[in-house]
Amino acid sequence: MSSDPVSIAVIGGTGFYSFLDEPEEHAVETPYGAPSAPVAVGTVAGRRVAFLPRHGLAHELPPHRINYRANLWALRSLGVTQVLAPCAVGGLRDEVAPGDVVVPDQLVDRTSGRTQSYVETGAVHLPFADPYCPRLSAAVSAADPSVGVGGTMVVIEGPRFSTRAESRHYASQGWSLINMTGHPEAVLAREMRQCYSAIALVTDMDAGVEAGHGVGQEEVFALFRKNLERLKELLTRTIAELPDPRGCSCSTWADGIELTYDVPGAD
Ligand code: ADE
Repeated sequence: MSSDPVSIAVIGGTGFYSFLDEPEEHAVETPYGAPSAPVAVGTVAGRRVAFLPRHGLAHELPPHRINYRANLWALRSLGVTQVLAPCAVGGLRDEVAPGDVVVPDQLVDRTSGRTQSYVETGAVHLPFADPYCPRLSAAVSAADPSVGVGGTMVVIEGPRFSTRAESRHYASQGWSLINMTGHPEAVLAREMRQCYSAIALVTDMDAGVEAGHGVGQEEVFALFRKNLERLKELLTRTIAELPDPRGCSCSTWADGIELTYDVPGAD
């Protein structure tokens, strides 16, 4: 087994396992408990890449039960500094449609009761005006010109989908995408001084439309399955071209700040 650090990770659905060549499993213990699953480390486009199935090996973890802190900590302990995060999202506005892949540039947190920080003590106030790494997001969109760029993703607590009134409200705010896992994943990656980019596959148009039954789970899963190969291709191209070293502020925001939590493997 290579002992090279693994700088790139993908957090996604279980269907992504097959895109790693020669994967090896790492059962990582963290101070926050167990991550969603052992981390698989393999090769993609000649680079060492870690993969973590967000919802567990058998999709047993609903969005509000995922141990986000353990997940990001486990990846960081293996050396991961860049996280690509494919996810299923609903579309809220006409500018997106099912089947679109979008790299959002803003996030609104509408979750409740999730632990969203490693900070337990002290004055550690991280910058989060731009929740996604612009360099990583640019690499994703450069890998495929059909990828939509920008837009705000609202993250709800789930596991239920939104009511029509909630959905219309979110759309009226100008927010274009809705999801259940994007927070606190993004902010914990920032606290771990990792670059993070969400790669949102629009699986449905949520409940805001006047006609129809509203969104259901089967529709979401089926569209995700249908687009899995396309997402893997996008990830592979992105990883092949990912610039190294990072050269952005995702790692340097903490310079001069005394962090009161452990960032494993950080220099
Ligand atoms: N994930 C996929 N579609 C969704 C929706 N409509 N609302 C919340 N999360 C989603």
